[in-house]
Amino acid sequence: MTQIIFLPHEEVCPEGKVIDVEPGVTICDAALRHGIEIEHACEKSCACTTCHVIVREGFSSLNEADELEEDMLDKAWGLEPESRLSCQAVVGETDLVVELPKYTLNHASEKH
Ligand code: FES
Repeated sequence: MTQIIFLPHEEVCPEGKVIDVEPGVTICDAALRHGIEIEHACEKSCACTTCHVIVREGFSSLNEADELEEDMLDKAWGLEPESRLSCQAVVGETDLVVELPKYTLNHASEKH
């Protein structure tokens, strides 16, 4: 099992959360299964940026982002070098530390 530590996020998981998942699942599915409601507006088809996460530790253990994901990520709020679309990022054998960005594009356009 691989451990994922989610850092605290005001709305989605105020206390943060530590979960154990089977390698091979996406970060998005892993989170959703454990009650962390990452947004996934396009139903995980790599056509939005609402599932954007930043992988603070273990980034290089993930599958590589493909071109489509990179293109979508360019539009994400708060893009960082360790940003991924969580529905496309497959968990490997290495433990991860994942941060949820403060805003998604949905929020950003509504409130800012
Ligand atoms: S849910 Fe839309 S890209 Fe991940």
